[in-house]
Parts: sequence; structure tokens; C-alpha cells
Amino acid sequence: MSQISKDSIEKVLAATDIVELIGTYVPLKRAGSQFKANCPFHSEKTPSFSVNPARQTFKCFGCGKGGSVLGFLMEYENLPFMEAVRRLATRANIALEAEVFDPQADQARRLRGRLLDVHREAAAFMHERLLKDAAASHAREYLKGRGFGREMAANWLVGWMPEQAKGFLDWARTKKFSGRELVASGLAALRNPDDPNSGLYVRFRDRLMFPIRNEMGDVIAFSGRQLREDPNSGKYINSPETLIFKKSNVLFALDRAKKPILREKSALLCEGQIDVIACHELGIDHALAPLGTAFTPQHAHLLRRYTSSVLLCYDADKAGIAASERAFRELVTEGFSVRVVEMPAGDDPDTYIKAHGAEAFRVLLGKAREFFDFKLGRAKANGAFESAAARRTLAGECVELLAAMTDAVARDHQINVVATHMQTSVAALRGAIAKALQKPQQKPQHAAGAGRQAEPESEAPAEPTPLHRNVGFLCHLALTSAPAQHFLAGQFESLHEAKRWLEGIPLLEKILAGAPDPTSHAAVNTFLSSLPEADRLALGTGDMAVIEGELSDGMLAAEHALAMLSATVLQRRDARVKADLKQSDLTQERLVELLEEAKEISSLLGGMGERWEFDDELPASTFKPKVAAGWKKRA
Ligand code: UTP
Ligand code: MN
Repeated sequence: MSQISKDSIEKVLAATDIVELIGTYVPLKRAGSQFKANCPFHSEKTPSFSVNPARQTFKCFGCGKGGSVLGFLMEYENLPFMEAVRRLATRANIALEAEVFDPQADQARRLRGRLLDVHREAAAFMHERLLKDAAASHAREYLKGRGFGREMAANWLVGWMPEQAKGFLDWARTKKFSGRELVASGLAALRNPDDPNSGLYVRFRDRLMFPIRNEMGDVIAFSGRQLREDPNSGKYINSPETLIFKKSNVLFALDRAKKPILREKSALLCEGQIDVIACHELGIDHALAPLGTAFTPQHAHLLRRYTSSVLLCYDADKAGIAASERAFRELVTEGFSVRVVEMPAGDDPDTYIKAHGAEAFRVLLGKAREFFDFKLGRAKANGAFESAAARRTLAGECVELLAAMTDAVARDHQINVVATHMQTSVAALRGAIAKALQKPQQKPQHAAGAGRQAEPESEAPAEPTPLHRNVGFLCHLALTSAPAQHFLAGQFESLHEAKRWLEGIPLLEKILAGAPDPTSHAAVNTFLSSLPEADRLALGTGDMAVIEGELSDGMLAAEHALAMLSATVLQRRDARVKADLKQSDLTQERLVELLEEAKEISSLLGGMGERWEFDDELPASTFKPKVAAGWKKRA
């Protein structure tokens, strides 16, 4: 496991000026010894956001957000700590030094880098072919015919892959990409997978190529659309899963949509990438879509980092409605509030926008309906209310979906909506939901193991084990860093105490008991595959957890994350104590007990504040280490 040294993190911080960095995001005005701006984290008309160059900190007196330059970047760009450090390092042109050299991790990192190179260069190659190749005129015509111009093609780096493989393979050779790298990228494959000398074929032929990017905007895969009707092949073909592309973790256009989503406080989830592109081209830039797969729990988890509200904008056909129901279930399981944009029959966002314009589409978005209003309204229109059997089926579906909702307040509201439509009593619905909740794993069939590449219909993963964010991070550390694992194994007390308050501790304990060697991918993968699927899903499936784990100082990160976890526990205890204190029938004894506990909690929280930077106007989950004071825990 490669580790970034504390020295380099300090170097990066020393080389970064907070005023300069924040100035690239927000226009700053000098005010005495400080700089002021309208706060980027909440909307306001008079500036209450200030940056202090002497202390290298920022603070908003309106919304209370504040911290170091790393804190700003993490908050503004929604980055994990290490990623923020990497960004600043790149900016300051500082090479992050590895503390320990691990040949295996180094090799994986190198291949990763090469795959990103292949994708970046191939995207440029295909784009140029689309613009210039004489044999691509039908592709250019096709785009034009769909109402997209050159600008769109440039904007999204749309490309064309020739029918003949030779052009691409020759190009790859001049670029010095090896056959092995092409195969690892998924752009090519061996004619005979068992014979490295059997020659290569190119996966995409005569297709319009859409680059797929990760959250950071790197091209990591392609989706190719057929240009000529061919019933023997899919309308769209996507890259296979590779070291850098895990379909169920990627949302098309998330890299562009993340900031608009924060602004709109909601995401517009479409079914296909063409729809997303059509939206963005007209300024509806909080649109995104999964990639030819159903919406997965991982998608929901990923999106939850940016918003808790989703507008579903799927096709108004049968498949679209089924897919939106599936997405609804995954989203409400993560606590999202979900509404549905009702498309006229036969339309998708792309065709609708082309026919009626962006303004009409915005009006449609404004009229989005509650999911159950939408579902039951349609059912009524289709006559499902006329037969008793169809009504029963419908009621069963609603109960199952309601049971998936984790936000109790939202569920209560939806129970009322359903009761009104179905003309049943709220109590009867509640009873049925309670019953559904008792049956464990009530969901459709089980999915196959990791590395599956199922298509929408066959893909129905189990419910992931509930896992609190902080606990999830500790699991990740325990799997990726030996010092972290060792440290956590000694924290029996804290973890035991947290069990009552946070979800997922038993899974963390399983990892600590199993103690797979984090420096061995094989050991970790073997351990992961021994876990029940629900646990694997909770950990982010398959080997991703390991591949992504190029953590700097695992030990320090674990200490920090454990402090965050303890703070969350304290916060939850605190909330409980405060709620108990409000009860009217408290005995004197109980009152004293609660006050003592409140005092204890507050002193424990105070103690943490001395060791870790802690802004008590923020929830404890935004605890940040005192990086500005030298990325060190206080002694
Ligand atoms: P649609 O069939 O709705 O495609 O599939 P679309 O977005 O309207 O595309 P156009 O307008 O015909 O070009 C929705 C999504 O499902 C995936 C693609 O990601 C597509 O965007 N899909 C569809 C596939 O992966 N393979 C297919 O054969 C078809
Ligand atoms: Mn379409």
C-alpha cells in the first residue's frame, strides 16, 4: 500500500495560499486584514463569508461553515481528505512522496495511469475521426439529424469508431499502447482469450462513441451507439468492467452535474446518456443517468453525497416505468425524497426537448408528482382499479415500496397518499408494512457474486447491510492499511460503546476478527468473498474497496475516523439525553442523572476539541483534523 508522507502533506499546505485558492472559486474583496465574499455554501445577499490570510482559515458567520484550505476544498468539491490533498499537490506541482514502497500497489497504480492515458487519447482520436474522417459522414449526418451540432460534439467529445479495426490498432501502436493495455482497457479483446497470440479485435465498430467520465472528469469507459440498425447487436454497447470502470458505481455526467446538483438541491435522473446530454446542452445541468444498468444501491449511495432529493425523468414506456420503480426503491432506501416527472407517452427527455423546447421541459419538471400519485394515477388510468385481483397486486406493490422507505416522516406522508388513492385505511397499510418489514430480504431474487455484468432485468442485488458512513470508512481503513487495522483491533471499548448508536459495527468487528492482510490484494479479496452479499454491497462491492485505497497515513486516518465516530456517538447520546430531559414526568433522581450525563458528554466532546479541530456549530460528522496546525494530532 503506498502511503503519502506527512512531510509532503505539510509541504502541500505550505505551498498553498487560502486566499488564492478560494479566490479561484469565489470573488474575494479585501476588507482590512481579511477578505470577504458572499458565502458559497448558503445563499445570501450581504457577504458574511470571510477568509483570514494570517491564519489561513475561512469562516462564514451566516451558515457557520469554516476551516482550513483543505476543509474548503473538501466541502466545495465534495472530496475526501486525501483527494483534496492530491488536488492541492497537483496545483502546487508537488510530488507526493510515498513513505513505503509496495511493488504490487505500484504496479496497479501504473496500470491505472496507463488506462487513463489510453482512454484520454482514444477519446481524442475518435473525436477527430468523427470530425474529419471521410468515412464518418453518416455519423455526422446522424448527429445532425438528431438536432445536435458541432458544439455538442466538442462539448462531450463525441467520437466515431471506424468499421475497420486496423485504423485504431495502428494508431494505438504509434501511441505506444501495448496490446495488453488495450485489452485491459476493454477497447480491444483477444480473439481467443486463452491465446495471447491470437490477435486483437476492437470492441466497437462503426459506432458513435460517448466518453464516460468518472466524478473527477477522467474518461474511464465508452458507450457506443449503433449507427446502422443491426438486430444482432445492442443499440448501445458499453465498455466492459475494468480496473477503472465499475458500471454500478458510475453515473453519466456526474462530473458536470455535481455542482449544479448542489445549487438545485436536487438531481434529475434520466434513463439514457442522450437525454442527459440534451438536458445539459440547454442549461438543465443537474441531469445524470446510470449506464445501461438499473439504478443500483451504489448509485444511490454515491448520489447521497450531493443531495437528498431526486427527480426521476424516465421514458414514459413500460420499461421506463419499471425502471423508475426500481430507482425509487433504491433511492428511498437511502432516505432520498423522490418525485417523478411525467413524460407524455412515447417521449423521453431528448425527444421532448427537441419537440417543445427547454422552457416547456422546465415547466414539466416543475409539475413533478409524488411517486405514489404518479404510480397510482397511471394504474387508475390503465384500469387497474377495476378488478379486485389487480387492486390487490397494486396494493402489494405499494406496501413493498413503502416498506423500503427509511425516512419515517416521508413514509407517513406517502402512506396517506396511498391510503387516499386506494381508499383503504392508514392503519391497514401500516399493518401490512410492519409485516413486510418483518420478512427479511423480501426483495426479488439474489444477484450473482462480484464481477457480474448482468443486464437490467437480471440484476437485483440484495439490500446492503446498514452501515454508518464513519463505520464504513473505518471498515475501508481496516481493509487497506495494516497499521490502521492493528490500531482498530485494540479499540474494543470504543467500538463496543458505539454498537448501540451506530449501524454496521458488527461488520467492522468481522473484519477485525478476520484480519486479512491489507498489503495483500489476494488476502483481502478472499476475505471479502467470504462475506455475505449484503456485507459486500455495504462495503462497495468486490475489490473496489481495495483498489481505491491508496491512503496516506492509515494509522492517523484511523485515529481521526475513530474520533469522528466517537463524536457522532456522543452527539447521538446528547440528542437522546436532551429529548429525555424534555419529558414532563421526570423524577428528581432521573433529572440529576440526565444532567450528569449531559455534563459528561459535553466534557468528552470538549476533550476531543482539544485534540481535533472541531467547530461546534457544525455536526460532529464534519470533524476535521487540525491540519492547518501541521496535520498533527495534539499530544
Ligand atoms: P434507451 O433505449 O431509452 O435509449 O436506453 P435512448 O437513451 O433513448 O437512446 P437513443 O435516443 O435511442 O439514442 C436508455 C439507456 O439504456 C442503455 C443506454 O445507456 C441508454 O442510454 N442501453 C440501451 C444499453 O446499454 N444498451 C442498449 O441496447 C440499449
Ligand atoms: Mn432517446
